[in-house]
Amino acid sequence: MAHTTTPLANKVVWITGASSGIGEALAYALAARGARLILSARRAERLAEVAARCKGVGASVDILPLDLADGSSLAASVREASAAYGIIDILVNNAGISQRAEAIDTAPDVVRTIIETNLIGPVILTAEVARRMRERGSGLIVVVSSLVGKVGSPLRSAYAASKHALHGYFDSLRMELAGRGVGVLLVVPGFVRTEISLAALEATGQPHGRMDPGQRDGMSPEAAAERILRAIAAGKEEISVGFDARARLAVILRSLAPRLLARIMAKARVV
Ligand SMILES: NC(=O)c1ccc[n+]([C@@H]2O[C@H](COP(=O)([O-])OP(=O)(O)OC[C@H]3O[C@@H](n4cnc5c(N)ncnc54)[C@H](OP(=O)(O)O)[C@@H]3O)[C@@H](O)[C@H]2O)c1
Repeated sequence: MAHTTTPLANKVVWITGASSGIGEALAYALAARGARLILSARRAERLAEVAARCKGVGASVDILPLDLADGSSLAASVREASAAYGIIDILVNNAGISQRAEAIDTAPDVVRTIIETNLIGPVILTAEVARRMRERGSGLIVVVSSLVGKVGSPLRSAYAASKHALHGYFDSLRMELAGRGVGVLLVVPGFVRTEISLAALEATGQPHGRMDPGQRDGMSPEAAAERILRAIAAGKEEISVGFDARARLAVILRSLAPRLLARIMAKARVV
């Protein structure tokens, strides 16, 4: 098969959040390049559908359902993932859940779910997987953050907290792993056309259930996946995907004129 000539051929890639959106698109793009896949998320039936499509192009695929918000179950998940092919070359911490509620209205349990899913779960997986990579002297940890990991936003307080924390954790991890053969790639999406706003949690935990305009008009998940694979091949440490002019401006203002940005964001019609 032609794809066996790509550097990703035969690499074992564990993708979380592979049941939809960016993770699903990554699974197809990696399958087409001959990678061996482990696909995780909560919805086993959606994972089975994604796996079937990947197998359709000849890829080797395992599915491993898990709930990142259930930290006590994740050590067993890492053991299972590590046993699937005997090695993990690339871990893609892509799964995430967003928020659509003001900070003071958001129930503590909702905050906890968002932080556990977006931060604590990925940190648990990463520490276990990166330890094995460091022993081997090779591997790559990918983590999908957000524009909201760089710039706060109304209605996204807990989501912003979880995504900002990813930058601190994974930048630090990259420094610790420097020279040990293990890389860290931070992916910072702006607006990508996925189910993220549909699944986003409102104040008491009910799903938002609506496609927001930012996502509707955003980059396709397939294009986002291709950008991520190019960044992996190029050995990048951080990339943005699906950034429009507003996103680029917000990041610049955050460092050069934060009070101006805060005034703009306070008046912006964020949904
Ligand atoms: N789309 C955007 O515009 C955008 C912008 C910035 C950042 N991002 C980030 O991009 C990443 C991918 O999201 P997406 O846009 O592709 O949205 P998506 O289509 O909603 O995908 C999110 C994935 O995360 C999984 N997930 C959610 N909670 C989970 C849990 N507790 N345990 C395990 N898996 C869980 C979901 O699967 P199950 O429901 O089956 O568990 C799904 O596969 C996320 O980290 C998100 O924050 C996206």
